Amino acid sequence: MNQDDASASPTYAGPERILSGVQTSGALHLGNYLGALVKFVRLQDQAECLFFLADLHAITAWQDPELMVPQMRQIAAAYIASGVDPKKAIIFPQSAVHEHAELAWIFNCVARVGWLERMTQFKDKTGKDREGASVGLYDYPVLQAADILLYKATHVPVGEDQKQHLELTRDIAQKFNNDFSAPGFFPLVEPVIEGPGARVMSLRDGLSKMSKSDPSDQSRINLLDDADAIAQKIRRAKTDPEPLPETVEDLKGRPEANNLVGIYAALAGTAKAQVLAEFGGKGFGIFKPALAELTVHKIAPIGEEMRRLMNEPAEMDRILLAGVEKAQSIAAPILAETKRLVGFWSPKRNA
Ligand code: ADP
Ligand code: TRP
Repeated sequence: MNQDDASASPTYAGPERILSGVQTSGALHLGNYLGALVKFVRLQDQAECLFFLADLHAITAWQDPELMVPQMRQIAAAYIASGVDPKKAIIFPQSAVHEHAELAWIFNCVARVGWLERMTQFKDKTGKDREGASVGLYDYPVLQAADILLYKATHVPVGEDQKQHLELTRDIAQKFNNDFSAPGFFPLVEPVIEGPGARVMSLRDGLSKMSKSDPSDQSRINLLDDADAIAQKIRRAKTDPEPLPETVEDLKGRPEANNLVGIYAALAGTAKAQVLAEFGGKGFGIFKPALAELTVHKIAPIGEEMRRLMNEPAEMDRILLAGVEKAQSIAAPILAETKRLVGFWSPKRNA
């Protein structure tokens, strides 16, 4: 990690800390894996890491209460099956650490309505039905800021779609620090977004994001898809008739080709230029089988391991409970200090 990044807040002097979360609202796909999970695994050796299950965020849209726990365990299983090591990283359900909701309330009183009005994800998710959306969905980015700053996290690995929420987190940190005369109290977080996996597109349309809300299952590769399903989806992925170009520059205007080359590069841990050095000039008849083989090789074992873990709820719960305790031991003193800065009474306060 670039050590200079953590100094984005000139006076923040705390340790580097990495944090991210994924909503527990449905099955994960290749976009979540490449945009988030792969980075979790890479970063877990670089600083203290917290990776939580965002179940408070999930309920901003209706969730069947019976499915809440299985869905949460499924995302935890996806983290671990992808290579997040619970001995290195702290894994926990957001709702089990009540400090998240408490800090979110304080931040509700720091963030401005004008800031939330600019959030494009809320507009995209609600479309014409703004009036019918939950207040929680509107307030979603403020809770996200609380998730991050509750641990004074300095780096947040996410996909590109989360960039605006991280900018809001920086605005909230800065305004809090100013309003309460506490320079450097909250760090200004750095997003970790780079790389060819930051924005994986639909297999059916290279101009729209791969997403769990796309009605076509053919548009995405789910982490729980078996080898046959994965290979078949790649074989059927939309392409154009031209062979692959020799340079990244020439992928412009060819969104589907660009997406498949990006997926290959992200899965192989290399750059698009490298992929084109090997496949430039070759047709999709050659490239697609190679991509299918690589994707099956990387993704199918994750699905298998997820299934094994989901059948071991007691083992999962032990990991989550240990995570909750560790998370809370970091969060509680930071929230207590935040409340002191705001001026709330506390039994421990001596003045
Ligand atoms: P979705 O957008 O499918 O509902 P989430 O909002 O739960 O997924 O996102 C979880 C993580 O995965 C976030 O870090 C998000 O930025 C990332 N992510 C989601 N979709 C993609 C994508 N198509 N490409 C890259 N990263 C993505
Ligand atoms: N909003 C993120 C998403 O949709 C999930 C999330 C919630 C998150 N809180 C976070 C990501 C804090 C990073 C840090 O994917």
